[in-house]
Amino acid sequence: MAGTTTRPPAAASLAQPSRRALAWIRAAVFAAALLPLLRLVALGYADALGANPVEFVTRSTGTWTLVMLCITLSVTPLRRLLGWPWLVRLRRMLGLYAFFYAVLHFTTWLWLDQWFDVSSMIADVVDRPFVTVGFTAFVLMLPLAATSTQAMMRRLGRRWQELHRLVYAIAVLAVLHFWWHKAGKNDVAEPMVYAAIVAVLLGSRVLWQVARRAPAGASARQAPLERE
Ligand code: HEM
Repeated sequence: MAGTTTRPPAAASLAQPSRRALAWIRAAVFAAALLPLLRLVALGYADALGANPVEFVTRSTGTWTLVMLCITLSVTPLRRLLGWPWLVRLRRMLGLYAFFYAVLHFTTWLWLDQWFDVSSMIADVVDRPFVTVGFTAFVLMLPLAATSTQAMMRRLGRRWQELHRLVYAIAVLAVLHFWWHKAGKNDVAEPMVYAAIVAVLLGSRVLWQVARRAPAGASARQAPLERE
């Protein structure tokens, strides 16, 4: 009958996945981010953590904290680049995973390296600059984890966004921590890669802000400032 055309259901795409597809993506990301921990558990169970298991676990959890931080920081540039707004729905989970691996890293040091000896811990944080920097990065992560809920986001309003800009400082400190640790061994190749990744991720934000402020800039027509 004329005038009663039925519209086909909106086609789900990578730019706009269906709710169901997004739930699957979230579940897959959640499971994938758990793999480094499962690997450590499996290696521990098989007694395959090498000659120095504490060092192995500290290094693995430290590396995964840094990787998760980089992945979290890549959400916003990727979302802008690809035009996939839903990526933001993964960001909190990824950030909490970065914190989770930082807690494991810190706990390994606190427990298996320092044996909860407070004076030894203070001495280590004070005497070894790379530990001082790592410790500072971890302390800065605490308010971000504590305010990661929707309720805190609503309660803090604009201040939430300002507080969560701390993640930039955390990423820089994390690279510095890694760099300093490796510089003592004359082996900064790996930290250099992370430094380059963090520089690109933070630099892209600066470029984005500059482009937004240019009145005739193409990106000025894009969405208003999003929550970071
Ligand atoms: C955002 C927080 C942190 C990140 C991203 C991070 C990352 C890393 C990375 C990537 C390494 C080197 C791994 C390797 O050698 O391959 C490392 C090593 C280490 N980190 Fe952290 N770290 C953080 C916080 C901390 C904290 C809070 C402490 C202790 C207070 C700490 C203590 C250490 C120690 C002692 C090592 C040397 C392990 C070894 O070679 O035996 N880190 N960390």
